Amino acid sequence: MMEELAHHILDIARNSVEAGATRLEITVEEDTQSGVLRFVVGDNGPGMPEHVRRRMLDPFFTTKSGKKVGLGLPLLQMAVQRCGGHLEVSSAPGQGTTVVATFPYYCWDRPPLGDIPRTVVGLLAGSDQVDLCYRHVYNGQVFELDTVEIRLRLRGIPLQTPEVLLWLRQHLAESINNLCGGGEDGQDRLARRAG
Ligand SMILES: Nc1ncnc2c1ncn2[C@@H]1O[C@H](COP(=O)(O)OP(=O)(O)OP(=O)(O)O)[C@@H](O)[C@H]1O
Ligand SMILES: [Mg+2]
Repeated sequence: MMEELAHHILDIARNSVEAGATRLEITVEEDTQSGVLRFVVGDNGPGMPEHVRRRMLDPFFTTKSGKKVGLGLPLLQMAVQRCGGHLEVSSAPGQGTTVVATFPYYCWDRPPLGDIPRTVVGLLAGSDQVDLCYRHVYNGQVFELDTVEIRLRLRGIPLQTPEVLLWLRQHLAESINNLCGGGEDGQDRLARRAG
């Protein structure tokens, strides 16, 4: 079971990598005033033909060989529906794929955001070919990290060097923490208020 939105993000972004995308754009948007948490995963992959798009939410549908089920999108759909949010997937051949999942911010059934740095670093560690832009927006304040810029600054040192990945993870954790004022997830805040 997926208890963290970060796990869903990882799953959706893996779909992009598996489809052959070379550039991912991941945005997490938290708006505590309007009470919305949204994440967007966009890719420059091949996009889905109509017959795939039609069945992408069917758990017994996958285009991947050696698999009998395709659970990434159906599980996200379930998580979204459980708390009255919504899921939008735009995808067409030659136009890439964009997945937008919108959740009510204050809802007991919403999974907590979870470990975003781990997700981002996990994606980068898993494939050399991929560049990624991560944006986090918290009540209008923006943090952004683009691996294209980081690669330039590394002057040829591979992004996948363990020390670099470790630095990235720490940098992301600190930056998101600072942005969100102590890094306390809204769900934690809700729990603390109740407890
Ligand atoms: N970003 C994408 N680009 C192209 N096709 C995609 C993308 N995301 C999903 N798909 C298509 O939708 C299908 C269903 O995706 P889903 O994540 O639900 O299952 P899966 O990836 O096949 O299996 P699992 O997620 O359980 O490993 C995929 O098999 C693939 O054909
Ligand atoms: Mg999948």
